[in-house]
Amino acid sequence: MCAISDLLSTPGSFVIGHRGAAGLAPENTLPSFQRALDLRCPMIELDVHLADLRAKEKQLVVIHDKKLSRTTNGKGLVSDHSLAELRSLDAGEGALIPTLAEVFSLLQSHERRFGQTVALNIELKGEGTGIEVAQWLAKMPSWPVVVSAFNHDELRSFRTLDASTPVATLFDKYRKDWLETARSLKAVGVNVSLKLARQAMVEEMSEAGFPVCVYTVNDPGVALQLKARGVKGIFTDRPDLLIPALSA
Ligand code: G3P
Ligand code: MG
Repeated sequence: MCAISDLLSTPGSFVIGHRGAAGLAPENTLPSFQRALDLRCPMIELDVHLADLRAKEKQLVVIHDKKLSRTTNGKGLVSDHSLAELRSLDAGEGALIPTLAEVFSLLQSHERRFGQTVALNIELKGEGTGIEVAQWLAKMPSWPVVVSAFNHDELRSFRTLDASTPVATLFDKYRKDWLETARSLKAVGVNVSLKLARQAMVEEMSEAGFPVCVYTVNDPGVALQLKARGVKGIFTDRPDLLIPALSA
């Protein structure tokens, strides 16, 4: 089983299936994750929210937005709906909103069938997901997982319960204190938007011990430029285009 730190220290750049293979199937659905696995992504990324915040048993569901309307035929907030209500919705082409546990099962069965352990990037989107993901991971068999978030307080909450799972700090704009933030969270790396991934930034972070992953890149030419800059992981909706380009 390849640890996250091994993946981040392997020469060259690797592909991260963004929301599965969001350019090839409805984002954050099992068919999307299956496409990413079929294409042999070494890592997939997904976004988590909590279903019904009033429920005693919290349920982690895989969806990007806090509102249902963009990606499903539902309305309102994810967190206002029970798991059963969320599961009655169409998340695209008839697919359901998956639970985090279902995606994990898909990864396990892929490993059993093909002997490939695909790493998992869990992005904490919804409020309260840091604590719930930490509790959920504590019950799961060991797996290469990295937990990331734009909301660094959510990552701090995660860290109160889980000191060992790798975390990555996400940035979508320049921050003077990004090195400090990454250090304070004992991050394994930083994940940044394409516009931030200039040569100087990639060098500064990498030299400080924080390999850089960049989202979201669907153009193979851009991916090759990033590889030349020393970017480690590239989030893409189109692993079918980027995997052959980066391995050439
Ligand atoms: O984790 C990388 C990327 O997914 C962050 O942006 O909005 O696609 O979740 P977003
Ligand atoms: Mg994401």
